[in-house]
Amino acid sequence: MTQVTLGLDLGTSGARVLAVDSTGKILAESIKTHPLYTPRPGWTEQSPLEWWDSSLQALKEVAGMLPEGTEILALGLSGQMHGMVALDARGEVIRNALLWNDQRTGDAVEKLNQIIGKDTFIARTGNPAITGFQLPKVIWLRDQEPEHYAKVRHILLPKDYIAFKLTGTMRAEPSDASGTNCFHLESKQWDREILGALDIPVEYYPEVIPSDEQVGRLSAEVAQQTGLPVGIPVVAGAGDNAAAATGLRISQDDLHTGTLSLGTSGVIFAPLTSANPDPQGRVHLFCHADGAYHLLGVTLSAASSLQWLKDTFFPSHSFTQLTEMAAQSAPGANGVTFKPYLAGERTPHLNPNLRASFQGLSLASGPQDIVRSVLEGVAYSLRDALEIIQPLTPLQQVLATGGGSKSDLWVQILADVLQIPVLKPAYVQGAAYGAALLGFKVAGFALPEREPAVQTTLPQNPEAYVEGYGRYVRL
Ligand code: XUL
Repeated sequence: MTQVTLGLDLGTSGARVLAVDSTGKILAESIKTHPLYTPRPGWTEQSPLEWWDSSLQALKEVAGMLPEGTEILALGLSGQMHGMVALDARGEVIRNALLWNDQRTGDAVEKLNQIIGKDTFIARTGNPAITGFQLPKVIWLRDQEPEHYAKVRHILLPKDYIAFKLTGTMRAEPSDASGTNCFHLESKQWDREILGALDIPVEYYPEVIPSDEQVGRLSAEVAQQTGLPVGIPVVAGAGDNAAAATGLRISQDDLHTGTLSLGTSGVIFAPLTSANPDPQGRVHLFCHADGAYHLLGVTLSAASSLQWLKDTFFPSHSFTQLTEMAAQSAPGANGVTFKPYLAGERTPHLNPNLRASFQGLSLASGPQDIVRSVLEGVAYSLRDALEIIQPLTPLQQVLATGGGSKSDLWVQILADVLQIPVLKPAYVQGAAYGAALLGFKVAGFALPEREPAVQTTLPQNPEAYVEGYGRYVRL
């Protein structure tokens, strides 16, 4: 009889559910979307009830796809990090969730820095106060919507709300909790000192359990709504970056290999054994789902910079045509430099108000130079992150994922700019796959080995971007 675990990733665009067998093979998949609301510029919200609805639909569809007799041994979770789900005493949602990319909390961050201090935040939680993280959202709610704050009795992260709806039990786990600004990294517990200084009851936060442990069991009501068997163990899971890394088998067992994701944003993920932050807090430090830690460098506009360029100046070109054009230019883009801060920047500047620019244009600059400067600018921005990561953990190669990694030229530019080999894994299944693997321990399955890479791009030209990166840094 076939035995599987399920993985559910609560993404920003939708809920994705996979069924994975004990060898790591995917047997069924469903994605259901949910809307995003931007009630004001810089504000992003979603309805937890709509998350729940898309999750139920995706679970139901996967349940219907599995052959009769398939045994489902666990359901693991993952999700968008940092969001705030505020619940009242009965566990009802008080208002829409504020999301990871919401920028309304500038004043709250300033207030937190005054009360707690930047250095204390970094030393205790691994990160300075950051607009996207959860704690500034709680302060915003208390200051701006006191009528809502008065009703708050529970504060959850997005995927932990789904676990609560599935089981009736509220729990958190370290990888996501460490993205709140109020989680003590060493003890892996909510930081009573920080919460106490802010007069926020620690009782609002759920008990913390390891990422691969059970929150509870699937309720009879949800079993009836989805067609899944009642009582399946629901496993806490991980924030989406830690889950995606788990899916690629990136852990403390191999500190030399990280990941480089070229999606909407660009992310470098580096495993780490101890809670050792950058003293200036320029890269994020979170718990990993393997019980250790990881660093995360985030460039907010990566593939979205190329998308913006295409939509704005080259709407009739394909991405392939654009990168072919860039290949006609030369390393350094004939003096043109692009700073990719179209949506502000996280690493290393942590400044939502930064903006993008092209520099060094001349009468000789052609479209090939402009396109190439965008590919290079994103690579330089990721180099900024890697420069901070390298002294903290010995990353020697990265697995490339995300839409941008389909371009061989962009991957070569990255290998040359970062000066490390960039490997393409055979399969990239994302966070939902990692969530399913996080259910393997409870299911009694052994974790599959990492797939061998199908392509390795070595740095070819160490000198090519020295001048270009120097120019970028000076700007
Ligand atoms: C990580 C981050 C994003 C969200 C989006 O710090 O903000 O990766 O988790 O899914």
